[in-house]
Amino acid sequence: MAEVSHTALTQVPGGTYDLIVLANRLPVDHAVDENGRPCRRRSPGGLVTALHPIMKRRSGAWIGWHGRPGPAPAPFVHDGIHLHPIALTGDEVDGYYEGQSNGTIWPLYHDAVEQPQFHRVWQDRYRAVNRRFAEAAARVAAPGALVWVHDYHLQLVPGMLRELRPDLRIGFFLHIPFPPVELFCQMPMREEIMRGLLGADLVGFQHPQATRNFRTLAADLLGAKVTDRGIWYDGRDVAADTFPISIDVAEQQRLALDPAVRARAAEIRRELGDPRTIVLAVDRLDYTKGIECRLRAYEELLSERRLDPAQTVLVQVAVPTRQQIDQYQALRERVERAVSRINGEYAGIGRLSVHYVHQSFDRAELAALYLAADVMAVTPLRDGMNLVAKEYVATRTDGTGALVLSEFAGAAAELEEAWQVNPHDIDGLKDGIADAAEADVAEQRRRMDPMRAHLHAHDVNRWATGFMGRLDRLSRRWPRSAAA
Ligand code: ADP
Ligand code: G6P
Repeated sequence: MAEVSHTALTQVPGGTYDLIVLANRLPVDHAVDENGRPCRRRSPGGLVTALHPIMKRRSGAWIGWHGRPGPAPAPFVHDGIHLHPIALTGDEVDGYYEGQSNGTIWPLYHDAVEQPQFHRVWQDRYRAVNRRFAEAAARVAAPGALVWVHDYHLQLVPGMLRELRPDLRIGFFLHIPFPPVELFCQMPMREEIMRGLLGADLVGFQHPQATRNFRTLAADLLGAKVTDRGIWYDGRDVAADTFPISIDVAEQQRLALDPAVRARAAEIRRELGDPRTIVLAVDRLDYTKGIECRLRAYEELLSERRLDPAQTVLVQVAVPTRQQIDQYQALRERVERAVSRINGEYAGIGRLSVHYVHQSFDRAELAALYLAADVMAVTPLRDGMNLVAKEYVATRTDGTGALVLSEFAGAAAELEEAWQVNPHDIDGLKDGIADAAEADVAEQRRRMDPMRAHLHAHDVNRWATGFMGRLDRLSRRWPRSAAA
C-alpha cells in the first residue's frame, strides 16, 4: 500500500524564506484514498526520496506541482516543510510535463533509448511554466536567499530567476544524465537551455561524464571560457561539478532492523513458497530501466535450467508512472505480455515464476522486500543514479544479499563491488544474475561490506551539505555585486 497521510492541513503563514527548493513535483501529491477521502500521497521517484529527509531537517520552502491539472491549493505545511503548489492547466500538463519534459528531454538525456519528439508548442509551454516557477521563487525568497532548482523540467529557471532577483544564490542539480554533444545538439532549444542553466552559480551533476559534457557544451555552443576554476560566461563565473546523490542510510537501516519489517520479510518468503532464490526488481515502469532485458535474461536462465523454475521466483515491482504517455503505455503492454509468457511456460499451480506488481508500496513494505530478496537486479539502460540499488545495500545490515547492477546506472561508479553487467548484452546479464544467485555468504559479504561502508560515508545528508556548502562558499568568493 502506498504511503498516504490524512493529517490536518496547516496553512503557511505569509513571509519569505532563506532556503527554497524548486522541483517539478512537491513531495506529496493530492490524491483520494480507497474510501474516497482526500489525502496526500508520497510522490514517486528518487528526487523526492533524496530531498524529503533533507528538507524535513531544515526550515525552508518547497515550490512544486501538486500532481493534478487545475488550480493550485493554498500553500500548506507537510512534515514541517512549507509547500507552495504551482498550478498547471491541462494544456500545460500535456505540453510542459508529458511533452517537453518527458517526451523530449527525458528520452534525449537517456541516450535516446526511445525516440525523442520535438514540438514547438511543447517548447512554448515549457518556457511559460519555467517562468511561473521562477516568479514564484522570486516572490517568496528573502534577500540573498539560497534557491536550489532541481531537474530537467526546470532548466530555464536559473537564468529567469537571476534576471528577476540578482541578489539570490542559485544552485541547479540535474538528477538524470546530461548527454554528450552529439545528442544534446538535436535539441531545438539547445542554446536557450544552456543559457538557462548557466544562470546558476553552481550546476551539479550525478556523474563526472555529465559534468564534462556540460563544460564541453558551454564552450562549443555558447563560446564560454571553460577553465579548471569554472565557466566564465556573460560576465559571471559559474561552477559545474559532480555531486552523486544518495539516500538516508540511517533511516533505511532503522527500517531494516525494525522487528515488524523483519517479520514481514519472513512472511513474504513464506508467501512466495519459500523458494531457494528470490530475485527482486523495483523500478518505475520506465523504458530506461531495462525491464525487458531483465525479463528476457531471466526467461532464458529458466529455460536453460541455470535457474531452477521450481526453486526461483522473480518479484518485479513496477511503480505506475507517466501513464498518459504512449511510450509508457506500449512498454506496459510489452512487459505484461512477457510476464504472462514466462508464467505460462514455467509456473506451476499455486507457484508463479514472476510476481508482477504494478503498484506503489510504503517504505516499510519495500524494505521488507529488500530483506527477503537473495538477488536484487538493477539493470537500467541508462540511469542518472538509481537509489533502489543503494536502498538494497543499506537494508542488508548483515552483509548478505547480492546486487546485480548495470554499468549504465550512475550508482555503478560507487557500488563497484556489485555484479556489474551490460544490460544490452543478454548473455553477460544472464551470467551476472546466475553468478549472483550462486554466490555463497562469504562472497556476498566480500562484496557487500565495502559497498555498505561507502554508503555510510556518502549518505544524502553529505550530498546536500556538500552542494549547499559549495554554493555558499562560491557566493562569498564571487560577491553579489559582481553578478548584479
Ligand atoms: P527514479 O528516480 O528514476 O524513479 P530511483 O531508483 O533513483 O529511480 O528512485 C526510485 C525511488 O522510488 C526509490 O527511493 C524507491 O524506494 C522508490 N520506489 C520504488 N518502487 C516503489 C514502490 N513500488 N512504491 C514506492 N516507492 C517506490
Ligand atoms: C525521476 C526524475 C524526477 C521525477 C521522478 C518521477 O526520478 O528525475 O524528477 O520526479 O523520476 O517521475 P514523475 O514524472 O512521476 O515525476
